Amino acid sequence: MRVLVTGGAGYIGSHTTLALLQAGHDVLVVDDLSNSSEESLRRVAELAGREAQFVEANVRDEAALDKAFADFRPDSVIHFAGWKAVGESTEIPLTYYRENIGSTITLVETMAKHGCTRIVFSSSATVYGEESEPPFTEDAPTGATNPYGRTKHMLEQILEDAAAANPELSVAVLRYFNPIGAHESGRIGEDPKGIPNNLLPFVAQVAAGRRDKLMVFGDDYATPDGTGRRDYIHVVDLAAGHLAALDYLTDHAGYHVWNLGTGQPSSVLEIVHAFEAAAGQEIPYQVVARRPGDVAESYANVDKAHAELGWRAAKTVADACADTYRWQSQNPNGFADA
Ligand code: NAD
Ligand code: WQD
Repeated sequence: MRVLVTGGAGYIGSHTTLALLQAGHDVLVVDDLSNSSEESLRRVAELAGREAQFVEANVRDEAALDKAFADFRPDSVIHFAGWKAVGESTEIPLTYYRENIGSTITLVETMAKHGCTRIVFSSSATVYGEESEPPFTEDAPTGATNPYGRTKHMLEQILEDAAAANPELSVAVLRYFNPIGAHESGRIGEDPKGIPNNLLPFVAQVAAGRRDKLMVFGDDYATPDGTGRRDYIHVVDLAAGHLAALDYLTDHAGYHVWNLGTGQPSSVLEIVHAFEAAAGQEIPYQVVARRPGDVAESYANVDKAHAELGWRAAKTVADACADTYRWQSQNPNGFADA
């Protein structure tokens, strides 16, 4: 297949671009490098033994996108490009609506113009409303509690409306739980700018000596050890889920939603201990107040993805911690070390 990957230089996009190249697909990455570096794509090429084409552009740039579609003639799109920091989205909500919603509308309109009918979209478990109880099935009530989450929730509805209006369009909405880990080579991984918002990159930077200690956000939740529980999914398993979804779309039109998780929750302290085992060192931590907006537990029911896509997560949290530690130790400052 010829796959146009938006946001392909980023964390999940680079791992998926690698998996696509390794499976023999041709890839064009469109990324504005607002939260990534072209070095990730150089390393993907080194690992795959072949290159993805690359256009540096914002997906909202109609002229650039039109040219990319005309030149590359994709038959499918995987749409990762978007801004993703929950806290930041409450400070600059209009940027989130402009970047996330604006880019998706331009993308789907450009697909229609060029007769491209398959799109896989990065959604998030954040769309499961607070009234739903985990494990979440895809038909659980949805909603959102912050501007980032609202962009994902709105985009799901926008894509569903687009699919209803165009019987030829095939849409796969993938609701990721908590992506973690890195490629086992240690050559590509998550490279957050500034202070990491997410648990694993923060823990990895504590292990590397870049931060003194982890702040554990609350140990008074109604969970076995009192800390929040999440469904951590290895990014390489997540990448494989995108290939399975693309495959499904080749002979299924319409709008489809799948959870991509493991179905197994881990607590913050379980992650700390798994990372300590992988790194062979202690991770200092201090329990502090709950982080506003956090829920006690979030994890997936993954039966639908298994039944329909034949996909299941294969890697463990221990694998993800070992891979993150390898990536962090070999690249203490991420891609900036290159
Ligand atoms: P990332 O920031 O590493 O990757 C996103 C990429 O898109 C970056 O390379 C960035 O430069 C690019 N980009 C952003 N806006 C763009 C635009 N308008 N035009 C062109 N390029 C643009 O993030 P990620 O973790 O790889 O996430 C990928 C997608 O998955 C995002 O849509 C995110 O919301 C979603 N998601 C991520 C997580 C997570 O925890 N990482 C969880 C659920 C969903
Ligand atoms: C995991 C657990 C924290 C950091 C977020 C987004 C979600 C999705 C994935 C994009 C929680 C605890 C964390 C720290 C801690 N992204 N924690 N100390 O909040 O489940 O999900 O990323 O779609 O939309 O909300 O992930 O990694 O931030 O937190 O104790 O320094 O770790 O309280 O229990 P979260 P996270």
